[in-house]
Amino acid sequence: MPFSSSCSKVSMVLVVSLFVTSLMAMTASAGNFFQDFDVTFGDERVKILNGGQLLTLNLDKASGSGFKSKNEYLFGRIDMQIKLVSGNSAGTVTAYYLSSEGPTHDEIDFEFLGNLSGDPYTLHTNVFSQGKGNREQQFHLWFDPTKAFHTYSIVWNSQRIIFLVDNIPIRVFHNLETIGVPFPKSQPMRIYSSLWNADDWATRGGLVKTDWTQAPFTASYRNFQASTTSTNSLTEQSAWQTQGLDAAG
Ligand SMILES: *[C@@H]1O[C@H](CO)[C@@H](O)[C@H](O)[C@H]1NC(C)=O
Repeated sequence: MPFSSSCSKVSMVLVVSLFVTSLMAMTASAGNFFQDFDVTFGDERVKILNGGQLLTLNLDKASGSGFKSKNEYLFGRIDMQIKLVSGNSAGTVTAYYLSSEGPTHDEIDFEFLGNLSGDPYTLHTNVFSQGKGNREQQFHLWFDPTKAFHTYSIVWNSQRIIFLVDNIPIRVFHNLETIGVPFPKSQPMRIYSSLWNADDWATRGGLVKTDWTQAPFTASYRNFQASTTSTNSLTEQSAWQTQGLDAAG
């Protein structure tokens, strides 16, 4: 029958295009620091090496440095491998976060507060929605984050935000809008990172100051990957549901 055969052709095309879409969504774009990021401050303290595969931020007495993504993301999974400032990193803060712009911005934060040699870094997390934060949770890591690269990830969808370290969920922030807690879900965000001096508060509440004889301080970044969702990506959605279950578990 002509009708049903053209109908099945149409649905065939639909299936193929859905498949292609989900493939595209699943194929995380492996990042290149030249192509995907802009320097935000401290120009000469930002170095992009190995043809765009490695980026380093430096902090010296004059200033820190930072970068941001060219792309904006509204939901997705963002992975970055970071090796933090080694040795006496007290007073330094390495921030790695997603943020939108403006007074009612949303933000999803990883902040690494440096420490004296041998004392643990503090990983500080926070979520801002509509300009309001105060949702901090702090962690000590189970490894020395200065010895090697580790993967820090944010999985963000309309239902929850999951913070992962080396693929282990450390924090889940659920969408609790039904009980009146604002949740970031409508403002696209860029990826930001910066290394700066915060010795007025960062280490033991500001008691330990930055030792400038150790400068420049360096944090390194590699293997950036972003996979964004599209609502018609069935594969991605089911992967995310699993991820949510893992995290809750
Ligand atoms: C630094 O180390 C001290 C001593 O172990 C610890 O109390 C503190 O939480 C660590 N982190 C920061 C950022 O001060």
